[in-house]
Amino acid sequence: MSLFQVQGLVKRFGGLLATDHVDLSVAHGEIHALIGPNGAGKTTLVHQISGLLAPDAGRVLLDGDDITALPMHRRVAKGLSRCFQVTRIFPAQTVRDNLLLAVQAHSGSSFRFLQPRSQAHGLYEAADRLAERVGLQGCMDGIAGALPHGAQRTLDVALALACAPKLLLLDEPMAGMGPEESQQMVQLIDSLRQDMAVLLIEHDMEAVFRLADRISVLVYGRVLTAGTPHEIRSNAEVQAVYLGTETLEATP
Ligand SMILES: Nc1ncnc2c1ncn2[C@@H]1O[C@H](COP(=O)(O)OP(=O)(O)O)[C@@H](O)[C@H]1O
Ligand SMILES: [Mg+2]
Repeated sequence: MSLFQVQGLVKRFGGLLATDHVDLSVAHGEIHALIGPNGAGKTTLVHQISGLLAPDAGRVLLDGDDITALPMHRRVAKGLSRCFQVTRIFPAQTVRDNLLLAVQAHSGSSFRFLQPRSQAHGLYEAADRLAERVGLQGCMDGIAGALPHGAQRTLDVALALACAPKLLLLDEPMAGMGPEESQQMVQLIDSLRQDMAVLLIEHDMEAVFRLADRISVLVYGRVLTAGTPHEIRSNAEVQAVYLGTETLEATP
């Protein structure tokens, strides 16, 4: 059974069908990319998955549980974590404090039985582990808002990892990055697949084709097709409506 499923999801904005009976599934450990031209409805779909927007019809299932009507924090508690297109770090705090806050927010009762000093120790250790996981261990004392753009996006991913998600939603993680930063983000996302599934919305086609196990193509709110990178690359309809022959030829 799939880890995550969207079934017949519908969202209308007045007369506009922004999400048109969308079906989507993500398997355990899969990196699933969602691509499509501007205005296709990617962000609207992600908002419904994360719980920011209520769909007009359809269901969202995580691990077989219907989470369609759950508020955002309950979805997070169930293992659905999200990175934002605009980062939500605390810019005036250090990297360490950002990580500590995220760890503490999601630790729930896991440190409850420990003495206060051990509790603090446990939080610091968890923050250190997260920093190492994403490669930010060298800038723990830096002010988050003063970090280079790529490191800020990386910190945002680390914050989303604090709740040990089963499914991570990434909304354009490479946006605004230079080639070197993009490369590092690709490696980071690639390293996540051993622990979680990822739903990746991304315009950087090189990154998408390098990372994705499967790709869904959204056009005018509908899933035009879904398949492996190879299937998507050789799909004439996809080439016509979205990717363009040039992009496909440029992609190894
Ligand atoms: N809150 C809203 N109210 C009305 N229309 C919206 C709203 N949000 C998005 N839309 C429209 O829904 C369509 C899909 O938008 P969006 O989900 O942002 O697409 P994408 O992320 O793929 O660029 C667009 O036509 C957009 O103008
Ligand atoms: Mg968008």
